[in-house]
Order: sequence, then C-alpha cells, then structure tokens
Amino acid sequence: MENIKAVIFDLDGVICSTDEQHYQGWQALADKLEIPFSREVNNRFRGVSRMACMDILEEIGGKHYTDEEKVAYATWKNDYYRQLLGEMSPKDLSIEVKFTLDELRARGYLLTIGSSSKNTKYILQRLGLEGYFDAISDGTNIVKSKPDPEVFLKSADFISMPYENCLVVEDAISGVEAAHAAGMKAASVGDAAENNMGDFILKSFSDLLKLLPSMK
Ligand code: G6P
Ligand code: MG
Repeated sequence: MENIKAVIFDLDGVICSTDEQHYQGWQALADKLEIPFSREVNNRFRGVSRMACMDILEEIGGKHYTDEEKVAYATWKNDYYRQLLGEMSPKDLSIEVKFTLDELRARGYLLTIGSSSKNTKYILQRLGLEGYFDAISDGTNIVKSKPDPEVFLKSADFISMPYENCLVVEDAISGVEAAHAAGMKAASVGDAAENNMGDFILKSFSDLLKLLPSMK
C-alpha cells in the first residue's frame, strides 16, 4: 500500500447509508408499477445510474415503457428518495466514518468522492460534509456508469493523481469492477465485501486505518 496517496470513496452505502433510502424509493416505485422487487434485486442497482436502474426494473417486470414513461417513473422515484434525504442531518454521519476520514487526512492522504449519484452534493450538504473532500466526481460529470471506470478516472484527474496511486472504497460489485477497470485497488464494505469482492475486505470502515499508514 506504500504507493497509495489518495482514497476515492463511493458515497451511497460507504460514506452514508443512503443505499437504504434508494432501496425504499425503488421498492415504492416497484409496488406502484406492480413489479416484484426485493433487497436482493436492489443489490443490482448499487453503483448503477438512475436511468440504468430504471431499465433493469423494466426488464424485471417484463414491461415495455416509452422513454418518456421511464423518465417520469425515474423522476417519481427520485422525488420520493429526495423527500427521505430531506430528513437527513449531520447526525446521520457515523462517528466512525468521520473519525476515519479525519485520521486519513491527518496521515497525508487526499480524499475524494467517486459516485454515480446526481444527488451527491445535496447528500454531502445534508451530512455537513460540504467542501470536505478534495474533489467530487459524480453522476453530473460522467456519461457511463459503473462498472465503467469513468467516475474514478475523473476523480483522480481532478486531483492530478496517477491512477495506480488511488485506492477505491466501494460497497457495490459494479464499483469494485469499475475500480479494477481504472487500474486501481479496491477495498470493499457491505454487499461487495459479503460477496468477497475487492483486494481488501473491510470488516468495518475504520479498518482503512490498518491498511493506510501515515505518509508523513
Ligand atoms: C449510486 C447508488 C445507485 C444509484 C446511483 C444514482 O451509485 O449506489 O443505487 O442508482 O447512485 O443515484 P441518483 O441519486 O443520481 O439517482
Ligand atoms: Mg454505493
């Protein structure tokens, strides 16, 4: 790990538990459209852009929607989801996550975000992390969603960091694949960790402190 100088964090399911609110939003839409849905199916949505999730939902339900209908349904889910996000506050940032981030920064690492979400800046603001990261690459600056590496390559580019000097932290299988496609190592939590994906499986977020010694 001596070559690691920057850590790129996924957001939903890594920095915060908004993966749960995403699930609730998609479950509510699936119920409305009478499409069978579950937490297990929702795991396929991790790291995947909103419209790509809508395509998967359409496929699961065996439905054929027009592009306009798909946009309208994805917007309905996002409105529902944003309402749940509105209830979030800095209290929803776990002490362990904040402590680990602060300690990594004190050890000399650059810290960035690599998320497919177009709600990234809003979520960071709700958590009191506005302006905290050295760069943010998110759903607003990418064309291709994970497992394509674009979001991580841009995150590294924003801080002018060679790709091999970045470690990605992910909860999505598609995110670990994206990190590897970017030529980066990946540490996994949550669903990706449970599926043994990644170069380092973190039992807990603060295990990052065991992996990444002080650079000073
Ligand atoms: C993250 C989540 C996905 C979500 C995507 C887009 O990658 O893991 O589940 O679909 O962001 O999120 P958005 O907030 O733009 O709908
Ligand atoms: Mg995630």
